[in-house]
Amino acid sequence: MPSLEGKIRYGVVGAGWISQGAFMPGIGQTTNSIMTAVVTGDPEKARGLGTRYGLDGYSYDEYDRMLKSGTVDAVYIATPNFRHREFAEPALKAGIHVLLEKPMASSVEDAEAIAAAARASGAKLMVAYRLHCEPGTLAVVEAVRKGEIGTPRFFTSTFSQVVRASNHRATSGYWAGPVPDMGTYPINAVRNLFEAEPIEAMAFASKTGRELGCDDTVSVILRFTEGRQASFTLSYSADNIDRFHIVGSEGLIEASPAFGFGEGTSIDFRLTRDGKTEERKAPVVDHFGGETEYFSDCILGGREPEPDGEEGVLDMVVLEAIERAIETGAPQRLDPRSRSRRIAPEQRRELPLAKVPDFVNTEVPME
Ligand SMILES: NC(=O)c1ccc[n+]([C@@H]2O[C@H](COP(=O)([O-])OP(=O)(O)OC[C@H]3O[C@@H](n4cnc5c(N)ncnc54)[C@H](OP(=O)(O)O)[C@@H]3O)[C@@H](O)[C@H]2O)c1
Repeated sequence: MPSLEGKIRYGVVGAGWISQGAFMPGIGQTTNSIMTAVVTGDPEKARGLGTRYGLDGYSYDEYDRMLKSGTVDAVYIATPNFRHREFAEPALKAGIHVLLEKPMASSVEDAEAIAAAARASGAKLMVAYRLHCEPGTLAVVEAVRKGEIGTPRFFTSTFSQVVRASNHRATSGYWAGPVPDMGTYPINAVRNLFEAEPIEAMAFASKTGRELGCDDTVSVILRFTEGRQASFTLSYSADNIDRFHIVGSEGLIEASPAFGFGEGTSIDFRLTRDGKTEERKAPVVDHFGGETEYFSDCILGGREPEPDGEEGVLDMVVLEAIERAIETGAPQRLDPRSRSRRIAPEQRRELPLAKVPDFVNTEVPME
């Protein structure tokens, strides 16, 4: 039951950096979505954001009351990864649609439970893979599908930033660390560019003197069928870089930035073939408004979103294999799996970028 104007009404769960800096302003760019509630552990945020956006404030203990309030059709969940299932599962069981931040959870078991709750109730679940609606990413996917680089052979990526030692990302072990937090991007990108699931994973992890509660820097190699490979390095303790190359039998694509968002960031890419390089520009868009517009369209039109529970679980399976590879030092075989859907051109959304507002009681997790 959408609002009187036919818009999907969202409750925001967890009012940290990404909620305040990206989702909340982004929703104002959409034509089909509004916010009605915020769930937060901080009464000051409840007051400040409540006044700014006209939201009802709830504490985490009052979550069930919000779900039953009749004022929300969907929730956007942006708590730390280890608190995703706690909020996603009850919402889905209550028939409330869920836009769930990536990675889906902090174990495959939790992710599968979330996906099962969506299947059981029929409420829609989308993992917030904002790049699945972003024009530059979709243009790379199309170029590879059209064979512009020949047959894809390998993918390589680097993604790093200096994360504050005090943020939950750096205090809560592997499942908050650089692999689930940042590695989800190259994993998801290569699965969609190869249109295949990896069959083996190997990884090396190291710590610096920063004494984080997780490994600082991790390098991963994934093996796919048909001789294809992917490798990527992720770090919480190195300067900003955000890029990938996909190299095929007859050409290559390089994107940098490849995974970022915000002011001045567009996912442009360079395609090289026969020794000639062509720059393909993408617009600067609001990734969060775009994914929300797409999800609300799916809810209003009775369609299943493409980045659904299955998509999220497939990334989680790879993340768990990487964890085992780090722990054992041995390559990890993955059972053969396949994906029934892939990114489609109609997911493209091109909404103008919203301005980032002043934060209420929160800080950017990166130094
Ligand atoms: N799609 C993307 O581009 C993107 C980018 C960044 C992050 N994310 C994802 O979004 C989620 C949140 O990330 P973030 O950067 O917003 O993190 P953050 O700034 O640290 O905020 C997380 C918020 O979660 C709430 N929270 C509830 N329990 C908590 C606990 N035990 N410890 C710490 N915080 C707790 C807090 O909000 P209250 O004070 O309101 O309770 C906190 O401000 C993560 O799953 C992350 O992977 C996605």
